[in-house]
Amino acid sequence: MSSLLAISSSPRRHGNSELALRAFCRAAEEKAITVELIRLHELKLNPCRGCELCARDGFCVVEDNMQPLYKKVAAAQGLVLATPIYFGSLSAQLKIFIDRFECWWHAKYRLKKPFVLREQQKAGFILCTGALHKPEFGHNAAFIAGVFFNSINYHYGGMLHLQGLDARGEIESNPAALQAAYDAGAEFVRTQLL
Ligand SMILES: Cc1cc2nc3c(=O)[nH]c(=O)nc-3n(C[C@H](O)[C@H](O)[C@H](O)COP(=O)(O)O)c2cc1C
Repeated sequence: MSSLLAISSSPRRHGNSELALRAFCRAAEEKAITVELIRLHELKLNPCRGCELCARDGFCVVEDNMQPLYKKVAAAQGLVLATPIYFGSLSAQLKIFIDRFECWWHAKYRLKKPFVLREQQKAGFILCTGALHKPEFGHNAAFIAGVFFNSINYHYGGMLHLQGLDARGEIESNPAALQAAYDAGAEFVRTQLL
């Protein structure tokens, strides 16, 4: 059975990006995909310290809540990252999560022992919410996510940038935005996970 790992990176619980993420995931659950939703702000995650000790064996030596996340990313078939747009790009929480995959970069490019093989056909998606109608902010976030997915051997499966959403939970009174998130999930599942 296929599985989807959903990463919510807003510091706001039940914020717009998490609510959009849940709509995305509902589409997956309706197709019997196993979904696990992780909120980064509930975890103890240290930034990458650039020690490069991971260059020896591909493993990060920092003992915090990232350790189980590596296993979850290795095991999932799909990975969806949800982020609020902060200063035209990703949340700090999501950037910390991404940077901590430096060890997988070493595993792939230096050690030639990637944790995920491209032939496994895993795929990633990025979902953003922002206050402003500035598509370039979504493109910034998607560009970074694309670099990340490529480095961990996930295929880039698309992006959605929902604009004009600011106050916490405002998306609940915007059925078109929630529908767009659901539709993106349904399309991602149909094209990447089934
Ligand atoms: C620190 C900070 C920076 C922000 N920067 C931007 C920005 O550059 N562009 C934008 O469209 N919205 C920006 N916003 C608004 C959020 O992206 C918006 O409120 C979003 O819907 C929040 O999602 P959340 O509820 O999941 O946290 C910013 C909000 C904060 C708190």
